[in-house]
Amino acid sequence: MLGIESSCDETGVAVYDIERGLLAHRLYSQIRLHAEYGGVVPELASRDHVRKLLPLVRETLAAAGIGVGDLGGVAYTAGPGLIGALLVGASAARALAWSLDVPAIGVHHMEGHLLAPLLETESPAPPFVALLVSGGHSMLIAVDAIGSYRLLGDTLDDAAGEAFDKTAKLMGLPYPGGPQLAKLAEHGVPGRFKFARPMTDRPGLDFSFSGLKTQVLLAWQQSDRSDATRADIARGFEEAMVDTLRIKCLRALEATGAKSLVIAGGVGANRRLRAGLDEATRRIGARVYFPRPEFCTDNGAMIALAGALRLSAGQIESPAIKVMPRWDL
Ligand code: KG4
Ligand code: ZN
Repeated sequence: MLGIESSCDETGVAVYDIERGLLAHRLYSQIRLHAEYGGVVPELASRDHVRKLLPLVRETLAAAGIGVGDLGGVAYTAGPGLIGALLVGASAARALAWSLDVPAIGVHHMEGHLLAPLLETESPAPPFVALLVSGGHSMLIAVDAIGSYRLLGDTLDDAAGEAFDKTAKLMGLPYPGGPQLAKLAEHGVPGRFKFARPMTDRPGLDFSFSGLKTQVLLAWQQSDRSDATRADIARGFEEAMVDTLRIKCLRALEATGAKSLVIAGGVGANRRLRAGLDEATRRIGARVYFPRPEFCTDNGAMIALAGALRLSAGQIESPAIKVMPRWDL
């Protein structure tokens, strides 16, 4: 199964074999292209996908040691995402599949993220709870079986990654600030800044992060704005974030009775989040599974995997090119 991801600012391509696992994967990130604008420019993203996709497909097939004729299917991200960017991947995937006379499979981007931990040798079997924390989402999902998902909680405003990025930006860090904020936090003094843990004082599994961002803004504006203070605030923000996510994850495990937790999405690359959840789940006799950091952020491997699982389950669709910029899981 060839997998193509092009929903936002990364072009990802991979080949996954249902028996042998992941054979090869390649990723091209457009981060530098968009950096000077402080965010992703949709039209520039589409054009860059056009430029990079086919060379990456060739490179990935060569790395996997196969030719196009060996493919049994082509999976692509059909949504949600930027419509122009999605159309590049969808058109390429559909055309390739049609010319090879193999099935093309449109995958939900978040299903890709959700299944990414299954790319690892030690992976959980459903039922499990998944925490999806990316630039666009903060969701808790009960995975009863592959393809059977129940939304347990969602964000009421900013997504977790968005909160990281916006907080970084307001303290003057360049886009995308999340990983840089996390790096700064490593040198920050714990406890100097203490921010609220939003929505943990009431029942429920929803998130809200925009108030946390405002607290950071006030703290930053009232501070000496030194490098040391920036790191201390970053530390306080990260601790509030990790604590909040940890509390909600434990609540979701309790509510569903599941013993496995899966973390997916870009924020899953956060070191303190990984350590915090590892410890918290062990304490209650449960386990947490993470994709390796490169499969936490957008990638083609998760799309190839989801496509391979769908194909082996006999789920094949009509051949029309269709993308869904907005699409519920
Ligand atoms: O899943 P992803 O690549 O893209 C979306 O589909 O949104 O996630 C990107 C998000 C960004 O907001 C980025 O700042 C955040 O993940 N992120 C991190 C870290 N690495 C990436 N946030 C906190 N700590 C990190 N180490
Ligand atoms: Zn994503």
